[in-house]
Amino acid sequence: MKGIILAGGLGTRLHPLTKITNKHLLPVYDRPMIYYPIQTLINAGIRDILIVTGGNNAGDFLRLLGNGKDFGLKHLNYTYQEKEGGIAEAVGLAEHFAEGERVLIMLGDNIIEGNIKDAVEEFKSQRSGAKILLKEVDNPKEYGIAQIKNGRITKIEEKPKKPKSNYAVIGIYMYDNQVFDIVRTLKPSVRGELEITDVNNAYLKMGELFYSTLKGYWLDAGESINALLKANKIVAQKGANKKYF
Ligand code: G1P
Repeated sequence: MKGIILAGGLGTRLHPLTKITNKHLLPVYDRPMIYYPIQTLINAGIRDILIVTGGNNAGDFLRLLGNGKDFGLKHLNYTYQEKEGGIAEAVGLAEHFAEGERVLIMLGDNIIEGNIKDAVEEFKSQRSGAKILLKEVDNPKEYGIAQIKNGRITKIEEKPKKPKSNYAVIGIYMYDNQVFDIVRTLKPSVRGELEITDVNNAYLKMGELFYSTLKGYWLDAGESINALLKANKIVAQKGANKKYF
């Protein structure tokens, strides 16, 4: 299975911090934000990794990460997202990299405490389809929210005005190769983006969307200035994916 980390976008919710750099390069405690998802993938046994970035500061990723030596890697792959077309559009750019294999997509501003190895193993034993991870949150209007009935997801709503649960779909998604065909069928949402929630709902319609709930904390560090502050505090207090260098 291959890993794809999404680190594009303009980060406008974090202006002025992101006027001259990419959100995923901002510090969270003692290292740049993107270090956390890279370590999460490596801890889960995924070492073939593509970084999708964009905007004016894309070159800084190469200067920072190089071939991934800080993580014990010999090579990292990069690709460039030209438009601000959304998470699902960025996934579409990874088709050449996937080469028919299954992929795990992680958003470059998501930080988790635990190891997702078990969820990855469960997904590997799935015959096909997708697997997502859910976490209970206090502010469900900010996320993709899953409705669950009798232990199965019945619907996912993107940033619902009236959330029907508080189970957020976190930014770690596992897909088989059908994902690239699904992306090709998507239409932009009201915010002008191809939505990852639409990808997940397409798998749901086919009866092929499965989930686990995440243990340990989940931080969406790039969601707002306060989320970034909270991430700094929690990572400093509790650590995250400790092993580095
Ligand atoms: C995105 C997804 C949303 C998900 C969230 C997790 O939101 O659209 O479904 O819950 O990431 O971080 P965005 O960060 O694009 O607002």
